[in-house]
Amino acid sequence: MTARRELTLKMASDSPLLNKDFVFGAATAAFQIEGAWDRDGRVPCIWDTFCAEPGRVANGDNGYEACDSYTRWEEDLALVQELGLDAYRFSIAWPRVITDIHGTVNQKAMDHYRKQLNFLNERGIKPFVTLYHWDLPQYLQDRGGWLNRETTYAFAHYADVVSRAFGDQVVSYATLNEPWCSAFLSYLHGIHAPGMQDRKQAYQAAHHLLLAHGLAVPKIRANAPLADVGIVLNISPSDPQQETLADRNACVLADQENRDFFLQPLLEGSYPEPVLNRHPTCSPMVLPGDLELVAAELDFIGLNYYTRNRVAAADNEAGYEALVYAGDDATAMGWEIYPEGLTHTLQHLASLPRCPALYVTENGMAADDELCSGAVDDEIRVAYFQSHLQAAEAAIAAGVDLRGYFAWSLLDNFEWAEGYNKRFGIVYVDYATQQRTPKASARALGELMAQRRQLERVKQESQ
Ligand code: FCB
Repeated sequence: MTARRELTLKMASDSPLLNKDFVFGAATAAFQIEGAWDRDGRVPCIWDTFCAEPGRVANGDNGYEACDSYTRWEEDLALVQELGLDAYRFSIAWPRVITDIHGTVNQKAMDHYRKQLNFLNERGIKPFVTLYHWDLPQYLQDRGGWLNRETTYAFAHYADVVSRAFGDQVVSYATLNEPWCSAFLSYLHGIHAPGMQDRKQAYQAAHHLLLAHGLAVPKIRANAPLADVGIVLNISPSDPQQETLADRNACVLADQENRDFFLQPLLEGSYPEPVLNRHPTCSPMVLPGDLELVAAELDFIGLNYYTRNRVAAADNEAGYEALVYAGDDATAMGWEIYPEGLTHTLQHLASLPRCPALYVTENGMAADDELCSGAVDDEIRVAYFQSHLQAAEAAIAAGVDLRGYFAWSLLDNFEWAEGYNKRFGIVYVDYATQQRTPKASARALGELMAQRRQLERVKQESQ
């Protein structure tokens, strides 16, 4: 008989993660949970279009219904409250808020998000808002999407509208979620909407995304002087497939292209020369003054961390390839579980000049969860959180200014090109009935929050 792994998260009582100022939360994104794709004036976005193209998304899944959270939002936010979390990270749907090329504001959508923000603030749950989690309005895509500079101005307008209306009711604004995905996964690898495969387009999309961020930052700051403003990046560190010079050099290439192409403009106002030199015909069109905007001061960088990449030298355009993980302990996404990479990535970020405060804005894993007699015993996910929380602790011990940690995701949801196959939630969603069932991992996080409150009480009594 194999021993049953304990379904609790254990942190030492003096852990910096149990400090009351460390922010614990759960995260979601509009397209992945909301459904209600045509309700209250929402217009189509690039993911609606992409889902409708045969072969793009597993099972032909789409976001029409998703978790129906646009309707069930109160139930979902109540779950966040029940778990005792400090914060909820969610995204606002651009195609709900600005419904045409003229920048028309949809009041119904604004009212909807205002209700959510009120609910959270009334209960002391900090709203962490992402403005762009990949749902570009289709009317912008029809004019070239992120390849068209006009999209950056449209984003700045949208950011202005949202931050003007909600101001400091939002504790933290992230402009973009994972611009690497919106640029490279979408325009180079063809896996995300709009599904292109063209390096020059990918670099141009990346620049426009970063410019959109840079144009939005001063607007948000003016409208919400007390709120934090930042950006969320996904970074999977590269490790050589074999300890050869060729594979180590391949890792350098991979990190320059996938990590530094986004970090360096944000922190230093320039693109990595080695990447531009390697692909001289792919340099993005950058106008004078753009990079100063891109390098606007940030209050935080959010790191979305899931795994590392094993990289080998390759005789291709990029000069490297990322290999599929071959171990039999991969997550349901096929990703290696590698918590040390979280510590290293946080340390790397913290070592960079002008690096602001850091948050882990997403961390979690997909598993083949099953609902048995009304319960989901996702031991493997509890173990994943345990090891990654320890990795976060190690980064703090090494001097990293890490302020918070968000589990991805509050709910099982639409996992992009993988459709509903991959379950990342701490709460199980039965898509046929839309019934929510907190998994063991949700309970473990809830207990950790209770432990923290108890420690706080003891501390206060002894003062
Ligand atoms: C990240 C995305 C998020 C989710 C997780 C698994 O790249 O930000 O929406 O899909 O991966």
